Amino acid sequence: MTQVLVLYYSRHGATAELARQIARGVGEIAGAEARLRTVPPVRPEFEPARGDGDPASGPPYCTREDLAECGALILGSPTRFGQMAAPLKYFLDGTSSEWLSGTLVGKPAAVFTSTSTMHGGQESTLLSMILPLLHHGMLIVGLPFTEPGVSGTQGGGTPYGASHLAGTRGERAFDEHERALARALGRRVADVAARLAR
Ligand SMILES: Cc1cc2nc3c(=O)[nH]c(=O)nc-3n(C[C@H](O)[C@H](O)[C@H](O)COP(=O)(O)O)c2cc1C
Repeated sequence: MTQVLVLYYSRHGATAELARQIARGVGEIAGAEARLRTVPPVRPEFEPARGDGDPASGPPYCTREDLAECGALILGSPTRFGQMAAPLKYFLDGTSSEWLSGTLVGKPAAVFTSTSTMHGGQESTLLSMILPLLHHGMLIVGLPFTEPGVSGTQGGGTPYGASHLAGTRGERAFDEHERALARALGRRVADVAARLAR
């Protein structure tokens, strides 16, 4: 089984829901399996708030073994001032040994995000997450315009990755295009990973 690591941070749940949709897409590809993981929040003094164990609910925190064992990585974060949230950046800044040893080199990768506003920085956030993945030598997978939702969406869903428009109070439900594109991204990454593993 090719493990597709779906790794994200989510404060209020929108990015977490997007992650679950992507994982469904991964599961639709034979030979591929999604592994959901998250990262700890950070305290104002910029120390990780991992505590003694994993979160009380939801997926466990990502470990070095998860990074080593994955055949692909799909990375998600809410938009914070037009870029990824600090907990995910903090986690990525701790992956020097993976960078040095080439743990992620040649593995496919993709990104996803959630924003409160339509033009509040989905693309810039997705690009901010792509940059460290390129430094890790990963092969970036996006969403092609042959997916009807990319041109038809009235909410999230971009060529750079999956996204969700949550509304200023998180009141906006996922629409049909956002769900379809999240699943398509999961399928696409899993399909590339499975082909590379053959
Ligand atoms: C500090 C902070 C900065 C934010 N910056 C933006 C922003 O630049 N653009 C935007 O549309 N939403 C912004 N948001 C809203 C979140 O991106 C949005 O609520 C997202 O859907 C939350 O995802 P989550 O439910 O996974 O935590 C910001 C939220 C916070 C707390």
